[in-house]
Amino acid sequence: MCGIVGYVGNKDCTRVLLDSLSKLEYRGYDSAGIAVFENSKIKISKTKGRLASLEQKLKREGWINGCCGIGHTRWATHGEPSDVNSHPHASARVSIVHNGIIENYQKIKSFLENNGYEFESQTDTETVAKLLDFYFDGDPIKAIRQTISEIEGSYALGIMFSEFPDTIYAVRKDSPLIVGIGENEAFIASDVPAILKYTRNYYLLEHDEIVVLKDGKAGVFDKHGVHIEKELHTADWDMEAAEKGGYAHFMLKEINEQPTAVKTTISPRITDGMPDLSECGMTKERLAGYRSIYVVACGTAMHAGLVGKYVIEQLARVPVTVDVASEFRYRNPILSAEDLVIVVSQSGETADTLEALRLSKRIGAQTLAIVNVKGSSIAREADMVIYTHAGPEISVASTKAYMVQIAVFYLIAFELAYAKEAITEEECRRLTAALNGIPEIISVVLQQAEQCKYIASKLINAGNLLYIGRGLDYALSMEGSLKLKEISYIHSESYAAGELKHGTISLVTNGMPVVAVATQRELFDKTVSNVKEVKARGATVIFVTHAYKTVESDVADFKIALPTVDDILMPIPAVVPLQLIAYYTSVLKGNDVDKPRNLAKSVTVE
Ligand code: F6R
Repeated sequence: MCGIVGYVGNKDCTRVLLDSLSKLEYRGYDSAGIAVFENSKIKISKTKGRLASLEQKLKREGWINGCCGIGHTRWATHGEPSDVNSHPHASARVSIVHNGIIENYQKIKSFLENNGYEFESQTDTETVAKLLDFYFDGDPIKAIRQTISEIEGSYALGIMFSEFPDTIYAVRKDSPLIVGIGENEAFIASDVPAILKYTRNYYLLEHDEIVVLKDGKAGVFDKHGVHIEKELHTADWDMEAAEKGGYAHFMLKEINEQPTAVKTTISPRITDGMPDLSECGMTKERLAGYRSIYVVACGTAMHAGLVGKYVIEQLARVPVTVDVASEFRYRNPILSAEDLVIVVSQSGETADTLEALRLSKRIGAQTLAIVNVKGSSIAREADMVIYTHAGPEISVASTKAYMVQIAVFYLIAFELAYAKEAITEEECRRLTAALNGIPEIISVVLQQAEQCKYIASKLINAGNLLYIGRGLDYALSMEGSLKLKEISYIHSESYAAGELKHGTISLVTNGMPVVAVATQRELFDKTVSNVKEVKARGATVIFVTHAYKTVESDVADFKIALPTVDDILMPIPAVVPLQLIAYYTSVLKGNDVDKPRNLAKSVTVE
C-alpha cells in the first residue's frame, strides 16, 4: 500500500532509489516517482505506471545526479493513477513522499486554500506538503511537529526542505517505516527488503519520532525534539531472499519455499517431541485458562484462521470464532479477559487487523499475534507474538505465509488440546511427529506442478468456477478460490459442498469447472455425492483427494492425487495444487502474476 524510500550517502542516489523501490513494488505499482537534490536544488521526476516507466523517463529526459533523495511507488487511494497524482508532492519549499491516508485532508485543504495555496492533484498527500510549507519558518523539525499535530490518519512521510540540501526528514504513525544504517550512508524504507542490498542494520521508528538523515548518518528525535538512542536491529533475511533466484515469478519461488518455511517455523517450537510455545509466553497453564478463542485477520490470513478453527475445535474442544478484521472491529465484539484473540498477519501492518488487535486489548482480552514481519506494528502491540519464519513474501498473492500460519495453528491446537486434557501426551507426541514430517510431504506434492499446469490450461477460458468441500476442505476451498481469482481474474466462488443445492447449483452449466476438495475421509462419500450432483449438470470436475482413493469417471474429469497424512493435517498438502493451479492459470493467461491488477500486498488503509 505504497512504498517509500530515502537515501543519503555517496552513491548515485537515483540508482539507489530505483533499486530500493523495486523491492517495494509489491506495495503498489500504479505510479512511481523520486525527488533528488541535484546541486542543492530539488529535482522531481514522476510518472503513472510501473517503476520501469520511471526509469525510462529518467533515461529519456535526464538522470538526476545527486546523493540524497526520496522515492515512492503508489497504490492509489485518493485520485486516479496519473502523473499529477504520483508522488513526490511538492510545495514551494517542501517535497514529500507518503504512505498512508490523511483522513482530515479536506478540512486542511480548505484551510490552506483560504491562505492562498493552490492544489494540482486530487491526493490527500499534497495537503501535507503544503501544510509543512505553511508552518515552515526555517526550522524543519518544528514544522514537522506542528504538521503532525494537525493531521489525522496514518502516515509514513519522507520529507525534503529546499533550504536544507542533502538532508531528509521522516516521521511515521500507523504506517511502517524503518531507518537503514550503512557505512557512511543511511536510508528510510517502508520495509526491510528495500535496504538489504546495502545493509542489514536498521532502527525501528516509533510513532511520531522524527529521523534526520544527513552526511550518511541518521539521528532520531522524540516528539519534543530530544535526541534519542535507538536499538540497532539486524535483519535475518539476506538479499537472495528478496530475489527471484532463477524462478520465473516470486509466487512460484515462494510456493517452492514452503517445505523450508514450515521446517524453520515449527522446528524451534518443538521440544522433546512436544509442542512448545513458551518462547512467546504461552505456557500450558495459560492455555488451559482460555474459555474461547477469536481469530481475527483479513484475506488469506483469515483463511488460515478457518483451518485453525477446525483443528482447535476438533482437538481441544475450545470454541473458536473466526472474523474478518474489518467486520470484527465494528461489531462490538463480546470479549473478556478469559478469551484469547489471535490476530494473523503476514505483513503485521494490515490496518484492519491492527485496529482489531487494539480493540481487543482495550476490551481486556489477551492477544496473540501470528506475524511474519519482525518488528511490525502488530508484532509490537500484541501481548504475545509467534513469528512465522517464512522469509520475505514478495508476491502479492500469499502462499508460503498461509502455509506457515496454518503450521503455527497446528502447534497451538496440539498444545492447547494437551493443556485442556482433551488429548493424551501420547497423542500429542504422535501429532507433533506427524507435523514434523510435513515438509517432506509438501516436497512430494510440489512434484505435481506439470499436472497442475495441464489442468490450468483447461481453465483459462472459463468465465466462472466453483470450489467446493466440506469441513477442513471447505476452509481450503476458500483459499483456493481466492488465489485463483486474485491472479487469474476468473470469477470463482467457494461453497460448502452440501450447501450447493440450496441455490448456487443453478449456476452450474455444461463445462463449468468445479474444483472439489475431498481429503477428510469421514466426509468423503458425502462430498462425492455432491460432486456427482454437479457432474450430472455438466460440470468439469477437478477432484483433489488421497492418491489411494479410486475416483470414477462419473465423479471426476481430473484427479489430483495427494499423499496421505492424518486427516487433520491434509490442508497442508492439499493447498499446494490449489496454489499451483492458480499460478499457472495466471501465467497461461499472460497476467502479471506477482503484481495483479488493483491489488497491493500490504493493506495499510481501512
Ligand atoms: C491474498 C492476500 C491477502 C492477504 C491480506 C492480509 O493472497 O495476500 O488476502 O492475506 O491482505 O494481509 P496480511 O497477512 O499482511 O495481514
